[in-house]
Amino acid sequence: MAYRIDRAAVIGAGTMGGGIAALIASCGIPVTLLDIPGKELTPGDAAKGLTLASSAVRNRVVTTLWERQLKSKPAALFTPEAAKLVTLGNLEDDFERLRDADWIVEAIVEQLAPKQELMARVEGVRKPASIVTSNTSGIPIAQIGEGRIADFRSHFLGAHFFNPPRYLKLLELIPTADTDPELVAFLRDWAARTLGKGVVIANDRPNFIANRIGVFAMQTRMLYGIEHGYSVEEVDLLTGPLIGNPKTGTYRLSDLVGLDVAAHVTHNLYEAVPDDESRETFLLPQVIIDLVESQRLGNKTGGGFYRRTKGASGSSEFYPLNLQSGAYEAPRNPRFELAGQVRGIEDLGERLRAIFAHGAGDRAGDYVIDTTLPILAYAARRVPEIAASPLDVDNAMRWGFGAEAGPFEQWDLLGVRQMVARMRQQGIEVAPWVEEMLAKGIDSFYRREDGRLTDVYDPATGHYVSIERPATRIVLKELHGGARELGRNASASILDLGDGVLCLEFHSKANTLDTQIFELGRTALELLDRAEWAALVVGNQGPDFSTGVNVAIFLEGQAAGSFESVETAGRLLQDLLMDFRFARKPVVTAPFRRVLGGGVEFAMHGARICAAAEAYMGLVEFGVGIIPAGGGCKELLRRNVSPHVAAGGDPLPHLQRVFETIAYARVSDSAFGARDLGFLDRADPIVLNDEHLIGYAKQQALDLVAMGYSPPRRGDPSIYAAGRKGKAAMLTAIEQLRWGRFISDHDALIARKLAHVLCGGDLSAPQWVSEQYILDLEREAFLSLLGEPKTRERITHMLKTRKPLRN
Ligand code: NAI
Repeated sequence: MAYRIDRAAVIGAGTMGGGIAALIASCGIPVTLLDIPGKELTPGDAAKGLTLASSAVRNRVVTTLWERQLKSKPAALFTPEAAKLVTLGNLEDDFERLRDADWIVEAIVEQLAPKQELMARVEGVRKPASIVTSNTSGIPIAQIGEGRIADFRSHFLGAHFFNPPRYLKLLELIPTADTDPELVAFLRDWAARTLGKGVVIANDRPNFIANRIGVFAMQTRMLYGIEHGYSVEEVDLLTGPLIGNPKTGTYRLSDLVGLDVAAHVTHNLYEAVPDDESRETFLLPQVIIDLVESQRLGNKTGGGFYRRTKGASGSSEFYPLNLQSGAYEAPRNPRFELAGQVRGIEDLGERLRAIFAHGAGDRAGDYVIDTTLPILAYAARRVPEIAASPLDVDNAMRWGFGAEAGPFEQWDLLGVRQMVARMRQQGIEVAPWVEEMLAKGIDSFYRREDGRLTDVYDPATGHYVSIERPATRIVLKELHGGARELGRNASASILDLGDGVLCLEFHSKANTLDTQIFELGRTALELLDRAEWAALVVGNQGPDFSTGVNVAIFLEGQAAGSFESVETAGRLLQDLLMDFRFARKPVVTAPFRRVLGGGVEFAMHGARICAAAEAYMGLVEFGVGIIPAGGGCKELLRRNVSPHVAAGGDPLPHLQRVFETIAYARVSDSAFGARDLGFLDRADPIVLNDEHLIGYAKQQALDLVAMGYSPPRRGDPSIYAAGRKGKAAMLTAIEQLRWGRFISDHDALIARKLAHVLCGGDLSAPQWVSEQYILDLEREAFLSLLGEPKTRERITHMLKTRKPLRN
């Protein structure tokens, strides 16, 4: 049976339902969102002539909740326009609308009876082959589908999203014994491609995968810390990035989730797993019970394990709870010698191995070792109960908790056999299948060939099984160090993506752009010129595409009293990007996450930009007192002003928008927003699943080659310059802002330089000019701004505080 999803419906418009509807609509799929009907009149209703039968009253619950979603931060929708795809309604008047839905998502209150009643109603209206899922976090899926006819049950499964649905990558699919396996395969693939989710298949066991292992890990870390006298701050330090977890560590994460929610989930888990040999780990520590009782629920109430306090400078500070005294105290920023020693080791495996090798007997080492071993062992004991494959467990922990490596991956990094020996020493129960695996001489859960992950151990058969991976899932890390690494320096690498496609990968700190990247970019272009290469992708798989040019470069030369080195770097960047743009073979750029300043300029010089949906793009140079000078002004003009003029339109409103985009340092909150800001064209594809971004970029590049790619012509007068008249209008607007004290004198100076560049300088009449003409103006304005003391103050401040200075 072939499944497809063209329309969806979500029932329950609360935190999860609203977020799921927003995500589905953001991906271009119309969705009906229903909640219970409003049954009361407010004092204002009568005056407006509203009665209990009015649709405004009937839809009040859903409308109020949806409006809250629209205002949520970070935004639930990729773009405000996506809201047009959401139709609101209530469960009495609009239930019939479910007839059209190919996918019906239940996200109502977490109680069995209402969910079962709802499913009985859904059964009465759903069309054949439509998919029904429940977002329950803890109720057995099979129970929710109990009593339904066979056709319903074969199309019913759990689809557990994480909060907030747009941003948390994990989606757990929980089929029952009755669910059609084809449907599961379809939804797995569809949700990965269309919604960009990281999908795992979980068994219908309490709290599924991520929350079962995640809660166990959180509890283990807290209970051990409490028992052995580690402070809140110490635990967070030892359970954060040091061991491959996000900065929130343990206690901060509880505050973020909400202690009431965390306590509820943990308590329910305790109740639901009477046979779990480690059930006592789910007993809440008294401190959580006390905090919840006193309504100190974490970030949402301003205090939990940390309390937000206004510091001396007026900025927020977080005071940790003293677990002994129960008082909030000034942060102590604890340090551990061992942590200090290993922190500099970039590779997680090496870092963990160093802790395990030297840590026993050390306070920090003991904590990490004594909490990690039980967590790894527990994960193994839950297979195959919660998931058939260790891979699903690892994926769930990486996608759901932002861990750098899941438990089995960590175990492999540490050495399976060695860790089992230590577990035995500590009296920790080792899963029989792990013992069997070792007895067979198999020493790792995963197998790699030439650095490429190929197989995972299957506990059911006792053999490795190959890991299915679509061609678009390229892992750059796997291409390092072997024949496919064609060049490398400290900041970048050139990799062979296969099929004649090269990749220029940045890996400098925060992926800031520096001369080493420019140099390797040049080498990549030289390679591209050779017959064996067809196209080049510029991208990476770090935390951000690029946070821009390393501004420290701008201060160089200042002491020597010349900007020669800066000018050289500026030229290198401009020339490189122009050579990308005019290369005979296509260059496709693949921006994602933060794409700032020079990062945007890099992206915009591709023949195509293949952008991740989560791309936060902005030319933010104004904040450090300069203007974009790597072709950012030029590209925005070319993309957003010139086409309108060529079509006979008035340039000024478009020019004004470009000016504002740069002067207000606007940053998009998605790739769709970046399209609205004019960084991306309609032809530039947006990819929902960031893990496939490089693969899709490669595909785009090959498509361009197949279509007979020919680059734009260098030197063509392709940019409309408005000249003096346009500039005069802009200068007037700038002066008004300055008089009104909306901007500082220095802002006004930068803005005037920007207007100068955007209008093509002092041309007496509008003209079409070449791209190089605007680039020369960019560079000139940029260098003159660098000579300004207030600009240098801005740069120094940014380097010190990471925040812009308004002077
Ligand atoms: P919520 O309380 O924000 O929203 C539930 C919505 O369901 C409300 O708008 C309510 O009006 C509606 N509702 C209540 N009773 C109903 C009924 N009998 N029929 C129809 N609608 C009814 O709850 P939330 O947090 O969105 O949770 C929804 C589901 O998602 C629950 O099953 C929860 O366990 C699960 N979940 C929650 C997560 C979270 O972080 N909040 C994460 C993952 C799953």
